[in-house]
Amino acid sequence: MIYYKMNKIKNLIIFGTRPEAIKMAPLVKAFIKESKIFDTKVCITAQHREMLDQVLYFFGITPDYDLDLMKPDQNLYSLTADIIVSLKPVLEDYKPDFVFVHGDTTTTMAASLAAFYFGAKVCHIEAGLRTFNKLSPFPEEINRSIAGRICDYHFSPTEVSKQNLRDENINENSILVTGNTVIDALKFSANKVTSNDFKDQEIEELKNTINDSKKLILVTGHRRENHGLGFQNICEALRIIAQDNDDVQIIYPVHLNPNVQKPVYKLLKNINNIKLITPLSYPAFVWLMNKSYLIITDSGGVQEEAPSLGKPVLVMRETTERPEAVAAGTVLLVGTDTNKIIDETLKLLKNNDFYESMSRLHNPYGDGTACEKIVQFIINLSNC
Ligand code: UD1
Ligand code: UDP
Repeated sequence: MIYYKMNKIKNLIIFGTRPEAIKMAPLVKAFIKESKIFDTKVCITAQHREMLDQVLYFFGITPDYDLDLMKPDQNLYSLTADIIVSLKPVLEDYKPDFVFVHGDTTTTMAASLAAFYFGAKVCHIEAGLRTFNKLSPFPEEINRSIAGRICDYHFSPTEVSKQNLRDENINENSILVTGNTVIDALKFSANKVTSNDFKDQEIEELKNTINDSKKLILVTGHRRENHGLGFQNICEALRIIAQDNDDVQIIYPVHLNPNVQKPVYKLLKNINNIKLITPLSYPAFVWLMNKSYLIITDSGGVQEEAPSLGKPVLVMRETTERPEAVAAGTVLLVGTDTNKIIDETLKLLKNNDFYESMSRLHNPYGDGTACEKIVQFIINLSNC
């Protein structure tokens, strides 16, 4: 191997959006714990700003490099170019042995390419998720496929995602099934929130907002392929569900993307039992997931967290790269068809047997030890 035993292994962990930060934060902590072996630095592209900073604050992470790239209503072309160009001096300054990227965002794809150009070993966390439809999710299916082609080591959350990589002729020895690091983050969050000294203003405000006599539906959404007509259909479904069901309360932390903010606020403001709020910090969102009766979302991360909390999820997408919870019957794909969203929501609200069958607690995405496994894998590599 390339390392002298006297020198520390240099890791650079790169991420840019809220979900990457949530899922990389426990890995940052796990590497820092092994500081006799590793020198670990964090670089954020800040593809997201406020939503990323919320996560960094909660996990107590101060980035070593902040590229500060987010622009209002940014486009994929300039974001991709900016990330690659801005990472060059960082890579040349720090000279990492290993670069870690996560998932399927533009940061993931562009950072893995930049790290490859530099010559570092590139490691992909949450590797091998596929829908096999290049337009859904857009552009994530292509982002993660490109990252998969570039990366030297692949940390897959499940056997299904490992098999996807093997089917692409990726060397089996470079793949490790770890579970998803989001479960590590969820455990950290649950422990912190229940500790005596934890006080959270947002959770206190939520307590005042929630009407305990009503069934709480938690909604999130942001996918690019749902922009436009998809969001109009989603909002129409939520409006009808709220107006026809007085025993329901909908809480919707609205993603800051203007292509989401505009239709959602235009179509759903001033409806009595719909509360539109700004994105929540991670612990407050976990608290709210726990309080909810059901979740309607197009989020990837929420599909992984909800089964661990025993919450049924209706996914407003046509495809998913996370088939495990669908197979287990706790996640159901409803797309963005207004009637389908309404029908399945009403079934969950009115049919107790159906609700019970979808709210089984299970952990298809791991046991909270993914980061330990990743760190050990890198240590073993370096000892070869
Ligand atoms: C991005 C990722 C998507 C991921 C999602 C998680 C890409 C192409 N998209 O989508 O894979 O699932 O994040 O949420 O990588 N904005 C803010 N403040 C923030 C964050 C966003 O104002 O903290 C607004 C800005 O106007 C920004 C816009 O949202 O330009 C879009 O952000 P962008 O990261 O390009 O797309 P997302 O829809 O957030
Ligand atoms: N989340 C959060 N605050 C919110 C909504 C979501 O902290 O108001 C968390 C959620 O728990 C999950 C992640 O953000 O871990 C999902 O992010 P998002 O849906 O934006 O992205 P995706 O997972 O679809 O890439």
